[in-house]
Amino acid sequence: MKNRVKMKFMNHHPLYKLVLGTIINPLNDKHCTVISKGGLVLKRGKNAEYKVCLIGSEKEAESYVQRSKDVERIELQGHALIPGFFDMHFHWVQDDVRLMPKDNLLNWLSQYTWPYEHKFQSKTYSKMRAKQFSKELLEVGTLGGAVYASIHPHSVSHALENFIGEFIVGNVLMTMNSPDYLTLSEKKSLDSVKELASEWKAKYCLTPRFAPTTSPRVMKEGRKISKGHKSFVQTHLSETENEIEYVLSLYKNIENFEDVDSYLEIYDRCGLLSKKTIMGHAIHLRDKEWKRMAQTQTAIAHCPTSNAPHNELGLGSGLFDFKKADRLKIPWALATDIGGGPFLSMIDVMRSFVDQNKKAKVSGATWTRALYRSTLAGAEILDLDKKHGNLNIGKFANFLVLPLPKQSDKISKREELLEKMFHRKLTDRESYSSLVKQTWYKGHMVFSKN
Ligand code: GUN
Ligand code: FE
Repeated sequence: MKNRVKMKFMNHHPLYKLVLGTIINPLNDKHCTVISKGGLVLKRGKNAEYKVCLIGSEKEAESYVQRSKDVERIELQGHALIPGFFDMHFHWVQDDVRLMPKDNLLNWLSQYTWPYEHKFQSKTYSKMRAKQFSKELLEVGTLGGAVYASIHPHSVSHALENFIGEFIVGNVLMTMNSPDYLTLSEKKSLDSVKELASEWKAKYCLTPRFAPTTSPRVMKEGRKISKGHKSFVQTHLSETENEIEYVLSLYKNIENFEDVDSYLEIYDRCGLLSKKTIMGHAIHLRDKEWKRMAQTQTAIAHCPTSNAPHNELGLGSGLFDFKKADRLKIPWALATDIGGGPFLSMIDVMRSFVDQNKKAKVSGATWTRALYRSTLAGAEILDLDKKHGNLNIGKFANFLVLPLPKQSDKISKREELLEKMFHRKLTDRESYSSLVKQTWYKGHMVFSKN
């Protein structure tokens, strides 16, 4: 039962769709093309899925299709078109705890988060919530990413069956130091990996919650099983100082790990580091950990809104050193970490990245960088960038329609345009959830704000 996400498209699918608007196409940390009065030509392919076959001026796009009779015009002049977002670390089962009081990480997990994940034990509840969450993702324009489910295997399938886009999903593996209601035996955990990895292959993501909750045997064996199916790996790493102390104190008493002196080394000994591995947070790393991340090309999901201070509704974990990651050429991308982060919109994450670094007087946290790290950088980590991540020719037509600032044609500087489009005051953060007017996936409108 693969590809259970069947989209019901209208009967006639024209050969071309001509989409007119201001196109904003992120390319990398420094470059982002802006074409005001621009046009995209989308061409129908297999299964009525559309790919970009031209990106250029309105005139160029018009003339490309002028000889064809089978063209639908989509007039979005006065709006911006940007690629769909990749959210590279979020817990889809934590939607209800996003706005609850934030404490330090370990207290917050046991007091608020875990009791809510317990509810997903019910298949009916989990399915209902997955359908609801899939709509929330489209509303904020998230069309891909890396997702944590609960311990229950059905919460993986429910997400993959309902979310529209390119998602990898894993059940959090919890075999120790967890409440009884969220503890699974090693055997049951490994059986779940076997079943889910063989069913979902590269869409499955081996997900030890973090070193304290997942026995080394399950991490090691789980990796062996899932690697054969080309699955990804994700976990949490060095989010807070007291978590690191806790991890090291636990592993001192675990056979074959008595001598580990860093958090990353635990995952390393379990064979988890690779370019198909995504570490959430990685804020408090030692030099040798940074080096090993670079050596193994292990990626980082940076979650600024989750790491932000309590008064900004985050867990107060600290500021990620993105410049160090860049210097060491470690792949990284932005993420919400719902429910550590309070809002599902990647635009709020971009804002937080820009604002927090500015406040800390760290240069280089531009809107151009934030947009690239919220779109194409995620697709690159998932090895999907040949077909996804921006609006280059040959890629699937996954894009969002947003309002342009007033008199945008008079703004000549790209950073200024992006700032006007995306920046809101802290007190206005909720408004991000209604900023996206339309979401298009493979050339079909899958969400429209009425
Ligand atoms: N570390 C282990 N589990 C979690 C979680 O659910 N959220 C966050 N932010 N950190 C974690
Ligand atoms: Fe997380």
